[in-house]
Amino acid sequence: MTGTIGDLVHTGWMSSVESLYVTLLVPCLLIPVILYLCEHRYDDILGVSPPGPWGLPWLGYLPFLDARAPHKSLQALAKRYGGIFELKMGRVRTVVLSDAALVRDFFRREVMTGRAPLYLTHGIMGGYGIICAQGDIWRHARRETSEWLKALGMTRRPGRLRARLEERIGRGVDECVRLYEAEAEKSCGSELNPQPALHHTLGNIINDLVFGITYKQDDPDWLYLQRLQEEGVKLIGVSGVVNFLPWLRHLPSNERNIRFLLEGKAKTHAIYDRIVDACAQRLNEKQKMFRERQELRRQEKLLEEQRSQPAEEQESGQESRPEDNEEYTDVDLSDEDEIDEDEYEPECILEHFLIHRDRESQLYCDDQLRHLLADLFGAGVDTSLATLRWFLLYLAREQRCQRRLHELLLPLGPTPTLEELEPLTYLRACISETLRIRSVVPLGIPHGSKQNFTMGDYHIKRGSMIVSLQWAIHMDPEAFPEPEEFRPERFLTPDGAYSAPPQFIPFSAGNRMCPGDEMARMMLTLFAGRILRRFHLELPPGCEVDMEGESGITLTPPPHKLRFTKLPLVELREEPDGTVSKD
Ligand code: HEM
Repeated sequence: MTGTIGDLVHTGWMSSVESLYVTLLVPCLLIPVILYLCEHRYDDILGVSPPGPWGLPWLGYLPFLDARAPHKSLQALAKRYGGIFELKMGRVRTVVLSDAALVRDFFRREVMTGRAPLYLTHGIMGGYGIICAQGDIWRHARRETSEWLKALGMTRRPGRLRARLEERIGRGVDECVRLYEAEAEKSCGSELNPQPALHHTLGNIINDLVFGITYKQDDPDWLYLQRLQEEGVKLIGVSGVVNFLPWLRHLPSNERNIRFLLEGKAKTHAIYDRIVDACAQRLNEKQKMFRERQELRRQEKLLEEQRSQPAEEQESGQESRPEDNEEYTDVDLSDEDEIDEDEYEPECILEHFLIHRDRESQLYCDDQLRHLLADLFGAGVDTSLATLRWFLLYLAREQRCQRRLHELLLPLGPTPTLEELEPLTYLRACISETLRIRSVVPLGIPHGSKQNFTMGDYHIKRGSMIVSLQWAIHMDPEAFPEPEEFRPERFLTPDGAYSAPPQFIPFSAGNRMCPGDEMARMMLTLFAGRILRRFHLELPPGCEVDMEGESGITLTPPPHKLRFTKLPLVELREEPDGTVSKD
């Protein structure tokens, strides 16, 4: 019963293989073509999509992005296509903005307040918190967070609240300086990695403001949270393929990363639950004590009033009017910071939240609380830490800039205050130049369009991811000539005043602009000013640091060491004849 291929053809077996082939192949070839055509005809009806590169079916442009520096691949496209272009990341339509005016124009619109449909972040956050939340949850969290940050002192207006916030930040900064001093003394050639002390102290400032607690350096929970943060930001980068091709989560390496993130979330929430319980207990006691003190004060006041009433009034039972009372009119009502004696003043974000806690409401439930706490901690620490690490590294490289800063800082006391540091426009310019030359959030935090809409000539589709490509905006040679040069003078007018060009948008713009910008400025100024008041920084001899950075959700410098040399602590004073004397 043996036969030849010819026999098979004649028996009709081959024709059934052919027809199977045709049945499978034709749809495989035709479906992408039909989908593509449908998509583009649809565009023609609604308007033209922004220009942009071709991509592969299903994968889009993803295979052509440099996974280690996606901001650079997109920057190259911006050079080719201009301030707005579109590409596909997997199946996600992505509009990239590389022009600050366009970013402002897009992000001020309500339709732009959505977040991008990214598998990892959406999957992990579940729509809670603030950074990945949308709609009512986001709007509410945003309003409350801004109010609470203001109540903790995040305001430009000098006053009691701001002074208290400065003091809380200052405590962390001083600890950082002390840790550097101790480590420099111990280490060979005063060389040390500036990151751990910064992470610990900056993290504790945010712990204090968000949770009302600070950790010891060797606390196991704290060590775990720091490690999770360091690893986590690298794993959830915007261009991570699982965000766009969720089926790739089944690959072993992706599975491992996702497990790490999910386990991290579960462990973090367990730590947070303990913090929340302890805080709720403390809050109860504090509120009880507050009410008791208030009652005591009320009774004292009543007694005082009775004693101060003229005898005839007391006899006639007449009450004094407040405006007759000199003490009352002396109160400065113009100061909005004046203590509201009727209400307990919460000392951290968690206390603010707990006062409103309502487990039945999506806006105040436990899931919202945990995600909001994690978001505020992450957003507050990752960005500021990366900025300060870049700042110290650039200043160690740029000795000319550091000399100029020392000239300004050495005449100040050992722990300069914001009042002393803020007028130093050169210090502010150095911080801004750091935020420009190494945008710590190079792709911003992508927005998502909630509806179809038209911008200028272009039609933007519902569900598109909108990327504000901060890297390209801040490295645009027209706005910032020779952008790879560290030149703080870009931010100074010829007479030395601070002036930021409109292309400088480190905190983004519009409805979702960073709500912690002022707090970030206060922290950066105090850390930068006090560290440089105390130390001269250099790169260890022969040491080269890769200044391209490591890209995740933030762009961070690779681990490196700097040489910290102590400066004199005494206050230097400039005499009228120009000489400098010690105090
Ligand atoms: C150098 C420091 C910082 C930089 C460069 C920075 C930058 C940014 C950027 C670019 C965004 C995205 C805005 C958008 O979606 O368009 C953002 C969002 C956010 N930032 Fe900051 N940030 C810093 C510090 C802080 C601090 C200290 C806090 C609070 C304690 C904070 C809280 C937030 C929050 C909650 C969001 C999400 C806002 C929303 O989705 O509505 N940030 N930040």
